[in-house]
Amino acid sequence: MTADPQAQGTALAEIDAFIERTADERLADYLEFLRIPSIGTLSQHDGDVRAAAQFLVDRLKKMGFENVEASPTGGHPIVYADWLHAEGAPTVLVYTHYDVQPVDPLDLWKRPPFEPVVENGRVYARGAADDKSHAHLHLWAARAWLETQGRLPVNLRIVFEGEEESGSDHFDPWIVANKGRLSADLAMISDTGFFEGNKPAITVGLRGLVYMQIDVTGSELDLHSGSFGGNVQNPANALATIIARLKNDDGSVAVPGFYEDVRELTPREREEFARMPLDLENFKHDHGLYELFGEPEYAPLERRGARPTLDLNGIWGGFQGEGSKTIIPAHAHAKVSCRLVPDMDMERTFQRVRDFVLSVAPPGVRVEINKLNDGMWSRTPIDHPYVQAAADCLEDVFGERPYYLYEGGSVPAGATFSNVLGLPVLLLGFTQPDDQAHAPNESMRLDNYEGGLRTLVRYWQKLATTNR
Ligand code: BES
Ligand code: MN
Ligand code: MN
Repeated sequence: MTADPQAQGTALAEIDAFIERTADERLADYLEFLRIPSIGTLSQHDGDVRAAAQFLVDRLKKMGFENVEASPTGGHPIVYADWLHAEGAPTVLVYTHYDVQPVDPLDLWKRPPFEPVVENGRVYARGAADDKSHAHLHLWAARAWLETQGRLPVNLRIVFEGEEESGSDHFDPWIVANKGRLSADLAMISDTGFFEGNKPAITVGLRGLVYMQIDVTGSELDLHSGSFGGNVQNPANALATIIARLKNDDGSVAVPGFYEDVRELTPREREEFARMPLDLENFKHDHGLYELFGEPEYAPLERRGARPTLDLNGIWGGFQGEGSKTIIPAHAHAKVSCRLVPDMDMERTFQRVRDFVLSVAPPGVRVEINKLNDGMWSRTPIDHPYVQAAADCLEDVFGERPYYLYEGGSVPAGATFSNVLGLPVLLLGFTQPDDQAHAPNESMRLDNYEGGLRTLVRYWQKLATTNR
């Protein structure tokens, strides 16, 4: 690979020209991808998830990738492909996911979620941002290089997951089983985005997750609340009692030992957090929040990026229909999840919550708590040369040095790449904070998409000449 700046400039000019002249074709291709309802958690969409994998496979094959396959995992396939002809240059393992979240509540969508429309410079559809934007961007970044230059400046291994939104159950075993063919110098995860106000950012922290369900049972069938009320424990009341014990009034978690392994922020990190320009009024307005609430001794961005949580994600049981029905429900349930930060352990956290739930369970009912899934937190060292090279490219394209972001969300693959494959992990993504990911009317800004494409093609070139 040549480091001749003039040749590099020519290549980039040709690539930028390709990006410009293919704008219509690219948009049409992106919309076609978004029309596939690849909802990973709903089994009636299994065929659609396979179709989305096939969409990627077809295109990767056509542009000259090798070993292209929708690799079976026991769940949804992982799309694998490689292009390894950039001798002497680094190898990057590129990760995105092609599964999307369910669409309910459907009645709040302005347009059907899988009939994408372009409006106000945005594409609206489920998955437009999270995470089909990035899967599609990577296809086209590679294609721009291969079609205009006949080569890529780095070696690429593509790993596109189909179960990210459903807990990545088969991901780690697949990575372990395929470890031998996944050698690389860097893992790049494209599943994050910019900071509030659409400011360019590189995510350097993700939280982990432990997801649990609590089931409380009191009888075999619902009971008449007149005949039995006063003589049995009510499972819904009992569940409410348990739930109420989990949190303190100030928003902190009341589970004993919960914070024991939490790494405190260093003064340097607190400074980095304080530097982030967050206008709280805009933040509330942009996301439709009535009030902020959380541990009083931490700032909002610290609570999001550096503190663990415990939240109910859903609670149900008993009568929910019209009018009144006098029963004591036979059972009641809650979905509870914790976001984890360094150095918390997933299993230990689950055990602490489980032991506490069982210890505060009122008598007269059966209480069960099970872990549904989990994912590990991850952190990226800001000063890594590969991170700084990405910052340079973002600055070239978006005209601003990026912020370094500690995100509250989770991408379990991050920890897998660093712990199983021993790779540095760069989180480079381009979605905007008001994308409404997981919610109705999800969207992707087209200028973020196009800027993302220009950033990626530059990054591949830059990496080829970055010292490790
Ligand atoms: N792209 C998100 C992760 C994310 C969220 C990154 C917010 C940055 C900010 C990802 O698709 C996601 O939703 N992950 C789940 C993981 C879970 C299903 C294990 C999450 O965070 O809830
Ligand atoms: Mn995602
Ligand atoms: Mn998501």
